[in-house]
Amino acid sequence: MQTQHRIILGNSQRMSELEDSSVQLMVTSPPYPMISMWDELFCKADPKIAELFGELAAMSEEKVVRQIYAAMHDYLAKVWQETHRVLVDGGIACINIGDATRSINGKFQLYPNHSRITEVCEKIGFTTLPYILWKKPTNKPSYKGKGAFLGSGFLPPNAYVTLDCEFILLFRKGRLRKFPPHDKDRYDSVLTKKERDEWFSQIWSFKGTRQTVTDLERRTAAYPEEIANRLIRMFSIKGELVLDPFLGSGTTTKIAIQNERNSIGYETDPNLLPIITKKIGYTKEAIVKIIKRLKN
Ligand SMILES: C[S@@+](CC[C@H](N)C(=O)[O-])C[C@H]1O[C@@H](n2cnc3c(N)ncnc32)[C@H](O)[C@@H]1O
Repeated sequence: MQTQHRIILGNSQRMSELEDSSVQLMVTSPPYPMISMWDELFCKADPKIAELFGELAAMSEEKVVRQIYAAMHDYLAKVWQETHRVLVDGGIACINIGDATRSINGKFQLYPNHSRITEVCEKIGFTTLPYILWKKPTNKPSYKGKGAFLGSGFLPPNAYVTLDCEFILLFRKGRLRKFPPHDKDRYDSVLTKKERDEWFSQIWSFKGTRQTVTDLERRTAAYPEEIANRLIRMFSIKGELVLDPFLGSGTTTKIAIQNERNSIGYETDPNLLPIITKKIGYTKEAIVKIIKRLKN
């Protein structure tokens, strides 16, 4: 099956290339609010966030931290709203997100990004479905948020539980999708019993399947191809359209091609284009179009 793929270098808060109700599945991993590697992106994207960080340096107020956290989620919310518009009735949105822990002005706390996104998506009109926990093999237990238990980690009560899982939040727009009996593409997309049993269980761990990634990919925090592969095969059928509004290094496009789905991905950072094209490679079964928006 020949499939079509669009890479849009532009901001997914406005997806004017997509009509209402035209996408069957969204799979993505956004920049994570309150994780310091993404501060610069949020500050550049929204001058109000940069201003709040300036205020925080001057007055170190907890109120300002809460405003920064809220403004970062407001930025993402515009993309979740646009996703709801473009999904078909019954279309699924899969969001890979990690919570953040951070010490600001000497105060350590959790920023539960997964619950914030769930609240926002429910307000938008999505139905929340049971989520997946992706158990990452790499994190070490932490003491005072410093990444590893020091000796005092054995002495109650001041050590912290380690964040060693990320969330894959699942939402549906509207009602269950309906198909004609014996729909060929649907039957051609069938999962094996082993895949169904493993993939529809709540905890996923990819021990021993770590990928080798380049430095720039590491900076985009690329997710494992296995995540995109499972989600695309669980929630779409061959020939359908998969959206990634935060494309990064292009993992979702690569896996959509492998699974005979069409795709569209949005990325604001044009420096990632060579990484994306290298990652997706070339096959004559996939027509790939790169579209640079003149105005974001
Ligand atoms: C966590 S990374 C995605 C990683 C991706 N899943 C992968 O495997 O490479 C998030 C990406 O979203 C991009 N981004 C942030 N805001 C955006 C927006 N409004 N529209 C499109 N891309 C955006 C960032 O530049 C970054 O590359």
